[in-house]
Parts: sequence; C-alpha cells; structure tokens
Amino acid sequence: MPLVPMRQLLDHAAENDYGLAAFNVNNMEQIQAIMQAAEETESPVIIQASRGARKYTNDAYLRHLMLAAAELYPKIPIAMHLDHGNSFQTCMSSIAQGFTSVMMDGSLDEDGKTPNSYEANVAVTRKVVEAAHAIGVTVEGELGCLGGIEDGHGAGLSSEEALEHLTDPDQAGEFCERTGVDALAVAIGTSHGAYKFTRKPTGDILRMDVIEAIHSRLPNTHIVMHGSSAVPAELVEIINDHGGAMKRAYGVPIQEVQRGIKHVVRKVNIDTDNRLAITGAIRRVFAGKPDVFDPRKYLGPAREAMQKECAKRMVAFGQAGHAGEIEPVTCGALADLYAS
Ligand code: G3H
Ligand code: 13P
Ligand code: ZN
Repeated sequence: MPLVPMRQLLDHAAENDYGLAAFNVNNMEQIQAIMQAAEETESPVIIQASRGARKYTNDAYLRHLMLAAAELYPKIPIAMHLDHGNSFQTCMSSIAQGFTSVMMDGSLDEDGKTPNSYEANVAVTRKVVEAAHAIGVTVEGELGCLGGIEDGHGAGLSSEEALEHLTDPDQAGEFCERTGVDALAVAIGTSHGAYKFTRKPTGDILRMDVIEAIHSRLPNTHIVMHGSSAVPAELVEIINDHGGAMKRAYGVPIQEVQRGIKHVVRKVNIDTDNRLAITGAIRRVFAGKPDVFDPRKYLGPAREAMQKECAKRMVAFGQAGHAGEIEPVTCGALADLYAS
C-alpha cells in the first residue's frame, strides 16, 4: 500500500470516534516495532520523524525504511509525518523526501526555541498550507507552546512556565480559518520528555478543560496532543533496577488521553514511553548478561518491548481493528479535493 496522506487517517478516526497514536522513530527497530504492533492489532498508523531524526538517519535511510514498511505490510495504511517542522524550508524538504504530512510548528521561531508572535505563526503556517495542499500533503499547525526539550525542538519551558503559554480557545478558530491547517496541536500544560509533572497531574496542571473549550468552539477540527507519554512507573523502574538513574516523574495518564479522544483529539504524540521501553530492555540484557556483544541480542528485546507499548496504546486509543476499513487515497487525489 502506498503511504497515505495523514488527513485521510484523521478523517477516518473522526468518522469512527477514535484516536491515532503518532510514534516517533529514528531507526529500523522502532519502525519494525510499530509495524508489528499495527499488524497484531490491525491498526492504521502514523509514523513521525523530527528534524533530529531526519539528521540522524540522513533522510535516505528513513525514506527507504518507510517504503520497506509499506511494502511489507500492504494491508496497513501508513502516514509519514514530519514532527515539529521549524520553517517553510524544512517542510518542503520533507515533502521532497516522501513525507505525506508535515507539522509546521510556528508556535516557536525558526530557532525552535523562542516563542513566536501570533501573526508570524499564522503567516508561516499559511504559506506551508498553500504549498502542501497544492500537492495533497497534510499540514498540522500549533497554537500555544509546549514545555520541555532543551536540545531538540522546544522552548525548554518548565511545567509552570508552560502553563503561561496554553492555547487560547478563542484564538484557535481564527487560527484554523486563516491558516487552513488540517489539524491543530494544542498546549495544555504538557511537556516533551520524561519529566512532565512532579506530581500526579490534576486538572490545574494538565488542562484538559482547554481541549474541551476548543472542542466546543470547533467541533470539527482534528486536535493533536503532544507530550502525551504516560511515563509508566514500571518502565522507569526497569531502567533504575538495572543501573539507570532516572528521577521519578509523572506523565499523561492514558485515561486522560482517552478523555481527550472523546473531545476530538485525533492524534496523540508518543516518543518518550518507547524510549523508556527500549532503554529498560537493553539495560536488562546488559545487566543480566554482561558477556553479550551481538547487537541483535539486545536490540531484539528492545524492539519487542517497544512493540508492546505501541500495541497497548493502539488498543487504548481505539485505532485497533480499523486498518482494513481504509481504502488508501493518494496525495494527488487529495490535492484535487483541496483545490475544489
Ligand atoms: O518533539 C519531541 C520528540 O520527542 C522528538 O524528539 O527532537 O529528540 O527527536 P527529538
Ligand atoms: P512525549 O515526549 O511525551 O513522548 O511527546 C512526544 C511528542 O510530542 C513528539 O512531538
Ligand atoms: Zn511534540
């Protein structure tokens, strides 16, 4: 099956009331883990790569791995999405590499760190939408700023600071109208990475009410939740029990994501939980079998651990069982629709 535009998957999710996990990848084992989980649960999938992932894989490896996934799993619709594009140029070079969807994250300046003005965000996002829709590629925009990530894309805001940059529900409608985005990423107090909250999140720090307010104003907009890893205590424990030293932290409970899905969250970004699962599995092998030096002996268990995490979320978000219902469309066909 060819890679499909993400818009098709979001629309199907909306028609059938479910959410889609969007998993970040950087290598072959992560793509294999997602695809095996998708086959096991019969799920459509969104696979996303950050700018850092594109650099790490040098684009060509990533492109060919994605094409291999499409060839090996002809019954699974796959969208290939750019996570946190920082400029028009980054979005265009992703499309040239075969991405069927891009995020233009104009909530931050091109440096990927400084909060941007609203007007600058609208202008750059609109420009990407015009170019991408002309060839049927999906666009996700972002309004409000997330916390976390000092090194990659992200303002590095603390969770307290992140609360000052929440999405304004009253601005969201105008933003979507002026930009024409297919999906809107919102800031509700979450951060990227493993240290989102220092206590179990309650409504004052994980602002699900913002999603509900946006939903009531924009009942048909596909909402995207970033920073949505649950940071399960048991995964952190495996790491720490085998030589790791991670601080205790709290993520976004899966039940809160499910609550979001009831309020038109259609895409849920997950990277950290898979990183934790991979790291724990590798540490366990190293600690228990210090003589191991064949990478397959630790990357294999790492891949299996990630597959389990992915499958769990595919079931929890409701995307399981839907792969077979989707008749793939090409970006070309969507371009005609956008034009009309
Ligand atoms: O945006 C955050 C994702 O977890 C990607 O992280 O920029 O380190 O690849 P990255
Ligand atoms: P996590 O760090 O919570 O997995 O979030 C990932 C993300 O939002 C990628 O864009
Ligand atoms: Zn993100």
